[in-house]
Amino acid sequence: MSSLEEVARRISVCVDCSLSKNRTHAVPGEGPADAEIMMIGEGPGFHEDKQGRPFVGPAGRFLDQLIASAGLDRKQVYITNVVKCRPPNNRDPLPGEIAACRKHLDRQIELVNPKAVATLGRFSMARFIPNQTIGKVRGKARSVEGRLIYPMYHPAAALHNQNLRKVIEDDFKAISTLAKQAVRQPPADDPPGEQLNMFSSGGP
Ligand code: URA
Repeated sequence: MSSLEEVARRISVCVDCSLSKNRTHAVPGEGPADAEIMMIGEGPGFHEDKQGRPFVGPAGRFLDQLIASAGLDRKQVYITNVVKCRPPNNRDPLPGEIAACRKHLDRQIELVNPKAVATLGRFSMARFIPNQTIGKVRGKARSVEGRLIYPMYHPAAALHNQNLRKVIEDDFKAISTLAKQAVRQPPADDPPGEQLNMFSSGGP
């Protein structure tokens, strides 16, 4: 599998779990192939399933505001989900569905090789930080598999809860600074060489 387009093609014909049966469109994800920041949500909802694009419904509009508040443009960010097909009635994705979809997400992470991954909600948090609660780990960047991971609440959870809303707004403001400080990892298929530090020295 060589490119993000090829991953998207594979996702569009994937029948490795039962979510494929009811999809209108699979939702592979979108954004620049060399994005410094990747955001990973849970799974497509009604609007995403209809359009084949991630975060285009109400949670997506809030996500756009949050991205703008971080001084970024949505077009700079690679946005995807843990599962690429809509769970019926927006139920939580099941462990088997997440496991079946993991190869697609893993390949997207490998290809984009972002400096920082912002996880949106508990399912994408669990991909990097298992057995934790989001309330405990949110807003604290850490290195996982040599990459900066920044767990945040899901925008949909924060949309109608004023307390969570303030927390997610504050967490978002830190993300561009974090990404600036992080150093991109060597591509996965590079020959082993000098190891880079997680954070740049901040020097000239
Ligand atoms: N919620 C998600 O987690 N992902 C989407 O793409 C839309 C809503």
